[in-house]
Formats: sequence, C-alpha cells, structure tokens
Amino acid sequence: MAVSREKFKTYGSVFDEKTILALQRLEGRGVFNELLSPISVGKESNVFSAETNNGVVCVKIYRLNTCDFHKMYKYISQDRRFNGVQKRRRAVVFAWCRREFRNLKVAHKLKVNVPKPIAFFENVLVMEYLGDKNGSFKLRESNFEVRKYSKIVLSDLQKLYQKCKLVHGDLSEFNILDFKNKPYIIDFSHGMKLDYPNVEEYLERDVKTIITFFNRRGCKLEFNHLIEEIKNG
Ligand SMILES: Nc1ncnc2c1ncn2[C@@H]1O[C@H](COP(=O)(O)OP(=O)(O)O)[C@@H](O)[C@H]1O
Ligand SMILES: [Mg+2]
Repeated sequence: MAVSREKFKTYGSVFDEKTILALQRLEGRGVFNELLSPISVGKESNVFSAETNNGVVCVKIYRLNTCDFHKMYKYISQDRRFNGVQKRRRAVVFAWCRREFRNLKVAHKLKVNVPKPIAFFENVLVMEYLGDKNGSFKLRESNFEVRKYSKIVLSDLQKLYQKCKLVHGDLSEFNILDFKNKPYIIDFSHGMKLDYPNVEEYLERDVKTIITFFNRRGCKLEFNHLIEEIKNG
C-alpha cells in the first residue's frame, strides 16, 4: 500500500513530525487507510475517524507537546505495570497510550461494553468506532433509557472490578458513549489495577460521579449499596 505523506501533512498544524511517522507506520501495517474527520480535541488527545478497507475505525492521538506529562508520570509510575517508565515526555505519553490499550483489551475480552482495541503504536491508539456518519454521542448529550443504561453501566463497573481487576479512574457521563442502544465506557488511560495506591477512592469517585448523573435523570441509586454490589455482589 502506498503510504502517502501528503495526506498527513494536511494535519501538519496538529501533529508533530514524529506523530506523522507513527500514523504512517500504522497505515503501512494496513490498520487504516486515511484519517477521515476530527471527532474531538480533548485535554490530552485528538480523536479522528479513519477509513479502512472494511469500515470506519477510531484513531486517538495523544499529543506529545501539549500535555502535562509531569502529572501523567505521577499517575502512571504508581501503576505496577508501568513502574519502570522513564520520566521523559515521549516515554510517559507512550506508556499512557499503551495503558489505555491494555485496559481496553482486558475489558473487551471480559465482555465489558467498551470499544474493541485494534492496534497501537507510540502515541496512537486505534479502536472500534462507536458512532455513525453523524459522529458519536456522549451520554450527556443523549436521550437514553435511564434505568436500562444505569443497570448496564453498573454491571460493567462490577465486571471491571471483579473480573478485570480494574477501576476506570476517570468515569463520568463524558466518558460514556451511546451506541446502538447501549452505553459504552471509553477513555481508559487512567484505568488502574486493584493494587494501585488508594484505588478504593478512585472507585468511590467514579461511582459517585455516575450515580449523581443517573439520579439527576430520575434514578434512585444509593451509593453504599452500589459500592457493595460492585465489589462483592
Ligand atoms: N471509540 C470511539 N468511537 C467514537 N468516538 C470516540 C471513541 N473514542 C473517543 N471518541 C470521541 O472522542 C472524544 C474524546 O475521547 P476520550 O477517549 O474521552 O479522550 P479525552 O477525554 O482524553 O480527550 C469522546 O468524547 C468521543 O466523542
Ligand atoms: Mg474523555
């Protein structure tokens, strides 16, 4: 397959030279053909849809320059899986991307509703695209069946905890997408194993945030009961 530099140059203002090389590498491997359109510009990443020979995928590009890598280092160096990561910008961002891929891999395998991870290289992660031609929908912006969705999300948190041994760590209605009548949890780069320092506090924060959201939409979810269900139910 011809790997064209030209089309990535269009995004030259967004990406540095090395990121363009990483995109070309993935393109060369046949993971996708070309970026289609920008979906989101977040604090740490730019997300695009991309075309493949059989449909659309989602490409999340962690920015190398405009991230707070000191903070990222603080978080990731406490993760036993990434203990030895060097305190260098590129190494930290790559570890962050790899962590999201690894977390998604476990979660997807154990049937939590998350995008299927496809590939990663350096600071670029490729995963299943949870949207249609109009884009993807955050729970926050969506009209959904509150009871059904809250049940699925809470059972996914239980699976994450009990089977995957993971806590999301950055859960909110912004990190859940509404796709094909189901909620999907995304943005797993914070996701930590159960031996992470103060992991229970992160779990409690995730649960508080999400039940506040569902309760505002008419549910009557009770914090202590749910924490107990997630951990031991
Ligand atoms: N797999 C996906 N399919 C479709 N859209 C996605 C997907 N992953 C992320 N997005 C879109 O990109 C946005 C940002 O992604 P996210 O992983 O939350 O990164 P961050 O919050 O760190 O910028 C999401 O809110 C969503 O709109
Ligand atoms: Mg997010």
